[in-house]
Amino acid sequence: MIVPDIIIAIDGYSSTGKSSFAKLMAKELGFLYLDSGALYRGVTLFAQEERFIDNNNEINPALEAALQGVDLWFATDNRTFIGERCIEKEIRTMEVSSQVSPIAAVPYVRRFVDAKLHELAKGGRVIMDGRDIGTTVFPNAEIKIFMTADPDVRAQRRFDELVMKGENPVLEEVKENLRQRDYIDSHRETSPLSRAADAFILDNSNMTISEEVAWVKGLIKGKFNLYDD
Ligand code: CDP
Repeated sequence: MIVPDIIIAIDGYSSTGKSSFAKLMAKELGFLYLDSGALYRGVTLFAQEERFIDNNNEINPALEAALQGVDLWFATDNRTFIGERCIEKEIRTMEVSSQVSPIAAVPYVRRFVDAKLHELAKGGRVIMDGRDIGTTVFPNAEIKIFMTADPDVRAQRRFDELVMKGENPVLEEVKENLRQRDYIDSHRETSPLSRAADAFILDNSNMTISEEVAWVKGLIKGKFNLYDD
């Protein structure tokens, strides 16, 4: 199946498996994968390390100017960097997860990330995941998916992921973090998480990742009248 140079937007709740799915799809279709959440996580790590955010989630407005000097980028293997430093491990910790949603609610942070996403997606042929890709960042994306899954399934998946990475998570805390992020992400004023009217809903509570890929490939095939090779 030869897919044209389109943009595929994957949005949805926290820990619905958007990134694993989008990464696999990108590999199968020969697309560039962009993880918008990694950029919000990168800004959060920077804000924490440079003390622009305190324990009460108070954000120092000087963060806006400081961001202009932050060289946040992706390597070709999708790892996230600030300058020379790979921050892939640090940005996936509970510590970053606990403050990323307040940071991502700040309009100038969103502008900073959106500008990067547009720059990186310039050539088209991109699959991107996040919360507002189909609604705000690329409202003209040709294929839009809105992912959801049962909250307990999501919490267990994230818990297992953290254990695999050598963290020592508490299931209830992971669940509470997902609950809080979903709430903040859906209720913020700027680009809240919501399903674009033309997005297909994918509830993957009981699906394997290959079933998801087959389902989305079917959508693409139907939309562009494509044939299997
Ligand atoms: O992996 P997970 O689904 O838990 O989260 P993520 O995609 O890494 O995103 C982390 C956080 O970044 C989200 O909870 C949102 O607060 C924020 N985010 C956003 O506001 N807009 C996006 N397009 C992507 C992420």
